[in-house]
Amino acid sequence: MKICIIGTGYVGLVSGACFADLGNLVWCVDNNEEKIELLNNGEVPFFEPGLEELVNKNFSSNRLKFTSNLKLAVSNSDIIFICVGTPTSKKSHSADLSNVFQVASKITKHINKFKIIVTKSTVPVTTGDKIEQLISKKKRKGLFEVISNPEFLREGEAIRDFRFPDRIIIGSNNKKVTKKLRSLYDPLIKKGAEFFSTNRRGAELIKYAANAFLATKISYINELANLCEKTGVNIEDVSLGIGSDKRIGSRFLRAGPAYGGSCFPKDTRAVTVTGDLFKTDLSIIKSVIKSNEKRRILLTERVKKILSNKIKNKKIAFLGVTFKPNTDDMRESSSLLMIPFLLKRGAIISYYDPSGEKKEFSKLINLSFCHNVYDACKNVDLVIIHTEWEEFKALDFKKLYKKKKFKIYDMRNLYSAEVMKKKGFKYYSIGR
Ligand code: UDX
Repeated sequence: MKICIIGTGYVGLVSGACFADLGNLVWCVDNNEEKIELLNNGEVPFFEPGLEELVNKNFSSNRLKFTSNLKLAVSNSDIIFICVGTPTSKKSHSADLSNVFQVASKITKHINKFKIIVTKSTVPVTTGDKIEQLISKKKRKGLFEVISNPEFLREGEAIRDFRFPDRIIIGSNNKKVTKKLRSLYDPLIKKGAEFFSTNRRGAELIKYAANAFLATKISYINELANLCEKTGVNIEDVSLGIGSDKRIGSRFLRAGPAYGGSCFPKDTRAVTVTGDLFKTDLSIIKSVIKSNEKRRILLTERVKKILSNKIKNKKIAFLGVTFKPNTDDMRESSSLLMIPFLLKRGAIISYYDPSGEKKEFSKLINLSFCHNVYDACKNVDLVIIHTEWEEFKALDFKKLYKKKKFKIYDMRNLYSAEVMKKKGFKYYSIGR
C-alpha cells in the first residue's frame, strides 16, 4: 500500500519504518527540514533501540522515503497517518491540538483522489469529528474518510510493540475503510494481534482509557509501597500476590518513582479536561494525577531523611536520569524535580546515564555529568539508582566504594534488600 506518515517523532518514525518493513511504500513527512536531512543521511534524531538499522534497511530498499514536501507525499499516497505531537496545552491541561489541525488543513489542499486520513496521534474524543468538519469545508464528502487508529507503543520497546501488539484498534464509521486498514495490519493479525473495530470516537477514548488505567495501576502500587514501608511488608510480595490474580494482572505493578514520560502525565491530564467538558467528573484519574505529583516530593523528602536531613555539601550520585531505561527521553522524569531540589539545598551532584548528558541540566551549578558509573560514584555520600538501566542491575558496590562508603537508595528495587543488608550496605529501597 502507499502510505504517508506526517510527523517523524517516536510514533511516526517507528510506524513508518515498520510499515515499510512489511512491504509498503512509505513517505515520511516533517516540516523540520533539518530532521529530514538527518534522516536522508541515515541518522535517527532520537535514541530507540533497533530503529536506526530498520530505517536504513528500508531506506536503502526504497520503501521508505523522507521529505518535507507534503504535497508530494500526500498526492502519492492512499492512507495518510497524522503522527504529530499533542503535548499538554500551555493554557490549560488539555491536549494542544494545533499541530493536528494545521496538518489536517494542509492535507486538505492536496486531496486529489480518495484518501483515508488516520489519526495515530493521541487526540481527545471528538477530534476526528472536527478534522472531518474542517476538511469538508474544502473537499466533498466521499473524497476522504477520517478514522482513528491509536498507537500503544512504549519508548524503548517501540519496534517490538509495533510488530507484536496485543491489539489493533480501528475507529471508523465506514466498514469499507475499516476493511482496508485491517488488510494493512494483516501480517500482524496473522501473528496473533487481536483486531478490534469500533466507531471513531470509541478508538479515541480507548487510547486515553488505556493510559489512564496503567497510570492508575502504577500510582496504586506506589501508594501501597508507602504503606509497606511503615508496616514492614515487602511491596514485591504484594505485587506478586495481587498480580497473580488474572483479573488484576501482574504488569505495571512495579513500585518506583512517580511515573513519567511523554504519555501518562499528559494523557491523564487531558482526559480529565475532556471529562469536565462533557460534565463528567473523572475523579479517580484526578486523584491519580495528584498522587503522582505528591510522589515526586515524597521521594525527594526520603532522600533528605536518608541523609539525616543534612543535604548541604553532601555528594550524591544519580545513576540514570531518564524517565525509564532504553530511551534518552527526559520528559516528566522525576529527576527533573529531584536534582534541582537537592542542588538548591546545597548538594553536589554527579550523574551518569547511558543515554548521555542532558541539556535539561546544562544550566545547573554543582551538577556534573560522568561518563561511567565508577566516576559518578567516586567519593559520594549517597548513590541513587533512579532509572533501571540494564547496566545498573549487577553493580560491584564493594569496588565502587573505593575510598568512601556511601549509602544506596535504590528507587527501582533492583537488588535484594536482604542480601544487601547481609553484605553490610546501608541500603534503602521502595516499599520494603
Ligand atoms: C506508555 C504506554 O505504555 C504506551 O502504551 C503508550 O502508547 C505511551 O505511554 P511509555 O511512556 O513509553 O509508554 O512508557 P511505559 O513503559 O509505559 O512507562 C511509563 C512510566 O511508568 C515510566 O516512568 C515507568 O518507569 C513507569 N512504570 C511503568 C512504573 O513505575 N511501574 C511499572 O510497573 C511500569
